[in-house]
Amino acid sequence: MRTPLVAGNWKMHKTVTEAVALAEAVAAGVRDLAGVEVAVAPPFTALAPVARVLTNTPVRLGAQNVHWELEGAYTGEVAAPMLAELGVHYVIVGHSERRRDFGETDDLVARKAGRVLGAGMTPIVCVGETLEQRDAGRAFEVVETQIRAGIGPLGPDTLERLVVAYEPVWAIGTGRSATAEQAQEMHAHIRATLEAIGGGDAARGVRILYGGSVKPDNAAELLGQPDVDGALVGGASLQAEAFASIARSAL
Ligand code: PGA
Repeated sequence: MRTPLVAGNWKMHKTVTEAVALAEAVAAGVRDLAGVEVAVAPPFTALAPVARVLTNTPVRLGAQNVHWELEGAYTGEVAAPMLAELGVHYVIVGHSERRRDFGETDDLVARKAGRVLGAGMTPIVCVGETLEQRDAGRAFEVVETQIRAGIGPLGPDTLERLVVAYEPVWAIGTGRSATAEQAQEMHAHIRATLEAIGGGDAARGVRILYGGSVKPDNAAELLGQPDVDGALVGGASLQAEAFASIARSAL
């Protein structure tokens, strides 16, 4: 009942020219794929040109960040209505790189996600523990707090309009993905936490993506878990062939 979503997070990669070429290759690579939703999140500079490439394709456009205010004196920032006007469908919020490098807190994550929803788009709210937290036996508690504080304030009715991504920090860009068992048990825990926020029906409808070193050779096993509803892919999303292969594994 949950359509899998495979989203590519291009991070700070690709000039406009390169992004257009990659988007064309991704669109061609997943052209015949039914039953899986595919999205790409280029850097802000490439959103408009990539939006044009994706017109009349099933591939959806994502953004990697957004500001928590609607407009104002925030030099260098981008607001939700600006993204919505470009045809952006998904906005990644609370990625661990932003939490780590830009001081993004759960409170800011909730405010950003609220702006995304308010502009008619879908937030992909990222959560995940560090290696230190996992080694200390605190992974479940940390992720639960991130969900309660980052999603709880949005209210129970918003659950059906958002996506969660579980991305253990120790698995991002390291080549060391979580095992399928580790992913499944955390995803089940996230779903139970969502149930406490919004009830069972709503929680069962939320797509929970796994992210962190997803590659063509481990995607099928991870995506085969009952509570893993897709993937948020960094490095491997920069190669159209690898990304299309991951998307096919979600079937
Ligand atoms: P990775 O990144 O696939 O390169 O590990 C995932 C992410 O940060 O979203």
